[in-house]
Amino acid sequence: MIKNRGIGFGIENLPRIVRGEGSYLFDDEGRRYLDGSGGPAAFCIGHANREVNAAITAQLEKVACGYRYLFTSDALEQLTQLILSLSGPRFGHVVYTGSGSESIESALKVALQYYDARELPAKRHFIARQRSYHGNTLGALSISGYAERRAPFEGSLLDVSFVSPANAYRPPEGVSEGELTGYLADELEAKIQAVGPDRVAAFIFEPVVGAAGGVVPAPPGYAAAVRQVCSRYDVLLIADEVMSGVGRCGTWRALEHDGISPDIMSIAKGLAGGYIPLGATVFKQEVGDAILQAQGGIMTGHTYSGHTAACAAGLAVQRIIERESLVARVLERGAILKRALHESLRRYDEIGDIRGRGFFIGLEFVRDRTTKQPFPADRRVNLEIGRRAFENGLICYPCAGNVGGGLGDTVIIAPPYNATDNELAELVEKLTLAVEGTLSAPLSAQR
Ligand SMILES: Cc1ncc(COP(=O)(O)O)c(C=O)c1O
Repeated sequence: MIKNRGIGFGIENLPRIVRGEGSYLFDDEGRRYLDGSGGPAAFCIGHANREVNAAITAQLEKVACGYRYLFTSDALEQLTQLILSLSGPRFGHVVYTGSGSESIESALKVALQYYDARELPAKRHFIARQRSYHGNTLGALSISGYAERRAPFEGSLLDVSFVSPANAYRPPEGVSEGELTGYLADELEAKIQAVGPDRVAAFIFEPVVGAAGGVVPAPPGYAAAVRQVCSRYDVLLIADEVMSGVGRCGTWRALEHDGISPDIMSIAKGLAGGYIPLGATVFKQEVGDAILQAQGGIMTGHTYSGHTAACAAGLAVQRIIERESLVARVLERGAILKRALHESLRRYDEIGDIRGRGFFIGLEFVRDRTTKQPFPADRRVNLEIGRRAFENGLICYPCAGNVGGGLGDTVIIAPPYNATDNELAELVEKLTLAVEGTLSAPLSAQR
């Protein structure tokens, strides 16, 4: 048994995983866990899928990897075509990565190279939002409004400007729900003007915030409004769809819901569904063309970018999602799941908000529903719910700090797209038990 050193989901003694099957994972003591959050929203078609494993094995038996500067491959080309057709006609270029953080790094670098190619080299500055998470590499962490994860690295992060989160449940003080979108668009415009439009390269945001907020969809009209502001000032719009994209929200691109296209989009988790690490940065035809014309190549990537077996895994996962109409299923069943969570949990006064899209649902717990006052941090409500759920055979994703960094308790639900109706019912039942146990237990009974 390995002792967890306090970072993560609050589980102290980690069990040893031995196998997976569909929506379930099993440890070496025979305990079964329903994967109600895809770990951190990654395992979108469940575990040990035979078709995906066969596709990976078939690729490995031929060749594991053709290095990208020497070879192309069927898997890479077919996956690229599929990503572009699923992303929509405005997109024309894909670069591959091995993680969400790398997909963000590549997005930032594509933006910088684009302006360099256009001979606007002063456009170097990024604007991002508070309460956001874009990854753990230095560049991705620099644009993350996530004090707890940044703290040990402050002083070595990029100089980035931040604007307010787009959170209808916790709007900036004095801003009503109806005013929120206009307020945030004006704030972004003012920030671009303050930095200087000739210096701003891109604005980056999560269409639905993940771990930093506990699933926070932007208010209606927000994405279209920031799209307009960015276009007005020749600032690129980067969508971080690492967690929310590839079908998780019930549309293949999360921003399809808002009817807009970003200039650059980062995807990862759902792309190969956790079978092999794989991410991608997808960008508009004109952005990539400008770089290629001026400089001949997109200067981002690593030894294993476009790894052939990883592309084979991604292709197999995406083909299953398409063939089984799983994105439409997520949209339909997501609404039912959210309703079931409401029905099962609304009797607890401590449920402040249940929100999200598709199979990306967040629950926010508060001490007082009227004032939205959070619990004291040492009550560890989110971790306690996660721990109790885990002990009872349910994996969910507890997150802290959505209120000012130090306070706030949220739990993310993000099951596999093909979880059965019975499994979704089991999820609701086990989560309700964990919530009930946590909220009714005296403080002294909690670790
Ligand atoms: C929205 C978002 N962006 C980027 C990342 C970084 O991805 P990775 O952990 O694969 O590097 C994450 C990870 O959780 C994320 O949720």
